[in-house]
Amino acid sequence: MSISSVVSVLLVTVAGVSKYLALEGVDGSGKSTVANVLANRLSGMGMSTLVVREPGGTPLGEAVRELLLDSERLDDWAEVFLFAAQRAELAREVIGPALSAGTWVISDRSYYSSIAYQGRARGLGEHRVREINETGLAGIVPDHVFVIDVDPGLALSRQDRPDRIGKEGTDFQAEVRASYLDLAESEDKVTVVDGTRKVDEIVDTIVGEVT
Ligand code: ADP
Ligand code: TYD
Repeated sequence: MSISSVVSVLLVTVAGVSKYLALEGVDGSGKSTVANVLANRLSGMGMSTLVVREPGGTPLGEAVRELLLDSERLDDWAEVFLFAAQRAELAREVIGPALSAGTWVISDRSYYSSIAYQGRARGLGEHRVREINETGLAGIVPDHVFVIDVDPGLALSRQDRPDRIGKEGTDFQAEVRASYLDLAESEDKVTVVDGTRKVDEIVDTIVGEVT
C-alpha cells in the first residue's frame, strides 16, 4: 500500500470515531456548562472537538435565534419551521463537515428540543415535528443524546433572564421534561443524566458512555 493510501485509511479511521453528542434538558438545566466542560475533557484526551448551540451556530442560525427568542410573539408553526431551518443550515454547513474531518461535535440542544418543546409542550405532535426536522438533516443526527435532568423549578431558579420560551413557566417545562423522559424510554441513544450532581460527575458519566 502506498504512503498516501495509508494516510487516507488513517484519516478515514480517525474520522470514523468522531461522534455527534447532543445535550438536552429544560431551560437552565446546565447544558451549556456541561458542554464546555465536556469539550475540555475530550480535548484533554486528544480528541478534536467543536461546541455548537441551537438555535445558532451559523450566521443564519444566530439571526434566526434573535427572531425566535426576542420576538414578542410568533405563530407556533412558524416557530417549528424557523428552528428546523436554522438546524438544517447548521447540520450541512458545520456539523457534517466537522464529523467528516474527525472532530467530535458537542451540541447544546438538537432537534430533540423541537420534539419536546414544539411537539409535546406546544402540543403540535412529537411525530410530526420529528419528521419535519429529519427531512432537513440529511441523516446528520446525534449519535448520543444526553438529557440533563433536573426539576423545572430548580432549573428556572438557576436562570437569570428567561427568554420568550423560557418564560412559558413550570407547567410548560414539566411537559418538556416528560417528553425527554419518554424519549429516553423509547430510544436507546437517549440517556437521562441526573443534573443535580456536580458538573464534573455529569461529565464523567457522559465520557464513560461515549469513549
Ligand atoms: P442551560 O444551558 O441548560 O440553560 P446553564 O449551563 O446556563 O444551563 O446553567 C444555568 C445555571 O446553573 C448557571 O448559573 C450554571 O452555573 C448553573 N449550573 C449548571 N450546572 C450546574 C450543576 N450541575 N449544579 C449546580 N449549578 C449548575
Ligand atoms: P437555549 O438558549 O438553549 O436556552 P436555555 O439556555 O435557557 O436552555 O434555548 C433557547 C430556547 O429555545 C429555550 O427556551 C428552548 C427553546 N427551544 C425550542 O423551543 N425548540 C428548539 O428546537 C430549540 C433548539 C430550543
